[in-house]
Amino acid sequence: MLHSLPQLTASETADAEVNVRELRSQLRKQVDAARMGGRIQVISGGQLLAAVVGLTDLRLLGLNPSDTRLHRSNPDIRNHLREVLGQAQAGQPTLITLHGQVQAGVISPAHLALLHTQHPHVTLSALDTLLRDVLATAEVGGRTLIAQSGHIVGVVVSLQDTHGGSSLSPHQEQQMQILTFWNESGGATKSTMVAELGYLLSQRHSSAGRPNRVLLIDLDPQRSLTHRMGLLDDPNSKARRLGATLNTVLQESDNEFPEPFIPTRMPGLRVIPAHQQLRSLENILISDDLLLTGLKGALRALEYQYDYVLIDTPPSNGGLTRAALVASDFAVVPMPTHIKSVENLENVTAVLAQCRRLTPQLRIASFIPTTFNKGRVQDREILELMQTQLTALAPVSPPITERPAVFRDVIPARGAVALDQPKNPATAELNTVLDHLLNAIREPVNG
Ligand SMILES: Nc1ncnc2c1ncn2[C@@H]1O[C@H](COP(=O)(O)OP(=O)(O)OP(=O)(O)O)[C@@H](O)[C@H]1O
Ligand SMILES: [Mg+2]
Repeated sequence: MLHSLPQLTASETADAEVNVRELRSQLRKQVDAARMGGRIQVISGGQLLAAVVGLTDLRLLGLNPSDTRLHRSNPDIRNHLREVLGQAQAGQPTLITLHGQVQAGVISPAHLALLHTQHPHVTLSALDTLLRDVLATAEVGGRTLIAQSGHIVGVVVSLQDTHGGSSLSPHQEQQMQILTFWNESGGATKSTMVAELGYLLSQRHSSAGRPNRVLLIDLDPQRSLTHRMGLLDDPNSKARRLGATLNTVLQESDNEFPEPFIPTRMPGLRVIPAHQQLRSLENILISDDLLLTGLKGALRALEYQYDYVLIDTPPSNGGLTRAALVASDFAVVPMPTHIKSVENLENVTAVLAQCRRLTPQLRIASFIPTTFNKGRVQDREILELMQTQLTALAPVSPPITERPAVFRDVIPARGAVALDQPKNPATAELNTVLDHLLNAIREPVNG
């Protein structure tokens, strides 16, 4: 599956000028522009203070980005920007790192002048210096597009990718898949599905022959998933802190991704908890596309740590849910077989369309009919309606039967149905739904 491609495209902001204030607020964007070959002049009061340039330019200046003697700063550079700019003026470059990788450098006006005169237009053409990074990416399964003067001229892929010519077969190593469980209605069984399917996934093996590495993220300020994983049982648990959540990552993808927790009874899972205060982000996130894509950027950095990331969302279409959808490859929509479920469909397509603006490959992997009671006429009718109406949007999986006692009992036990009641027919149903879901995400369908 082609997604999260590290792209080399000619930057529109090459040779752009930014003032100090703008640099501070948009540093991430400018670093990206520099990484793509741009040279960003930093101006204050009409005076050129420094420039942000990419790795190619640093190498052209004879600076080795892996030289540990060079001063480094992660994008917290914002906090000491004045110092970094002062250093640049004194001829001392600063390397900007992100997730431990050097992304760009801040150099002096003299260095910039040298670049301009000696290497007037090397943007993206010095492929040889970039090749090592590109090959390293390909080795671990990444694919890099090569652009020249804004036009894509090639792609570097791994040997595995070249075998058979087709896209990844189920036997080859899959890239990390991010799935958001989404339904703006409360009680649609989102959290239940994240816990149950997450547990089942962690019990299965990946194509690489080891148990799937599964990360569950609770983005719902109600914290049901966090609670259910037992992370709130200890009143002194670190999982109760706002710092344990994605609070800061959601506001700035450069912020450190928090250490996940291991649930005692399901040690194959990793969990990022939620906190009531995440609620305050609902409106903040939605107001700004840059913020809405923060989580996406942060999750991309986990690409080779997990096989699956499952995100639980609140019962709303606010900023938290949208940030999750924008960060995802797939939405999974659990839908109780009630009339209310089919009434909300217009919202589903509208929100999906909005999120696709930022993540065009996002699609619904499947609708999961839940709390189905085959003894009720209305449930049978709604299930049939779903199977006929929804398939145009995405596949509809076999239903999960309503079993209040079974699903209720696993919550205080901090377990899962498949863990506590492996012989219960509910476990078989959950496995069938998971098979269906995995098929849906492996086989591209329309929409
Ligand atoms: N198949 C099922 N049969 C009966 N009850 C179920 C079933 N699946 C889940 N439940 C119960 O339904 C209730 C709501 O489920 P859950 O909390 O997962 O929904 P949700 O969509 O996450 O809700 P919210 O939107 O409030 O976060 C829970 O009490 C859960 O135990
Ligand atoms: Mg929930």
